[in-house]
Amino acid sequence: MIVAIDGPAGAGKSTVARAVAQTLSFTYLDTGAMYRCVALARIRDADCDLDSLKIELDDAITLNGEDVSDAIRTPEVTELASEVAAEASVRAAMATRQAALLAEGDWVAEGRDIGTVIAPHAELKIFLTADPQERARRRAEQTGRDLSEILAEQQDRDRRDGERSLSPLVAAGDAVQLDTTTLSADEVITQIAELANAAINGGGPQ
Ligand code: DC
Repeated sequence: MIVAIDGPAGAGKSTVARAVAQTLSFTYLDTGAMYRCVALARIRDADCDLDSLKIELDDAITLNGEDVSDAIRTPEVTELASEVAAEASVRAAMATRQAALLAEGDWVAEGRDIGTVIAPHAELKIFLTADPQERARRRAEQTGRDLSEILAEQQDRDRRDGERSLSPLVAAGDAVQLDTTTLSADEVITQIAELANAAINGGGPQ
């Protein structure tokens, strides 16, 4: 079974997807971390070969054996990840890897195109949104960075991720849309876990 969780940065995807996976005893897949690894590899070597990048997403995220869990969260990598994610060759390579992972087992996969492109057959699709000010506020709280700077960067990324021609950030037609602006993480986690349990017990797509 696949639970797909898509949405813009700061809507709460990572916190929620990780917790829902734990609640359901499913495996968590952070597809954004893959794009971030590609961006980091590019910063280090502009000509790096995509196919030979060894990306492992376990408790720690490793790139060619090195723990890059922190290194992929810098503003520089965040910015470049959004750029490399618009490249056809990068998307194709990541899509192949993601589809291979999702082919077996039970997953909570988060990203931008899981419900639309990577796993359109997912049994449950969630599209998480939140007010842009609130999303930026959350990021500022997490990182300690300046709110207005984060808001400006977020607007750029939202535009790039939403307007690119390949797999833009859009909700799947059959996704459940959840606005998390005024909800706590626990409330969102509970709602999604309930929807997933209903999908498990009911059998069919939502
Ligand atoms: O979710 P995140 O911030 O870690 O994602 C990093 C970048 O990767 C973000 O700009 C959007 C892009 N991304 C994507 O295009 N498709 C995905 N499935 C996941 C992330």
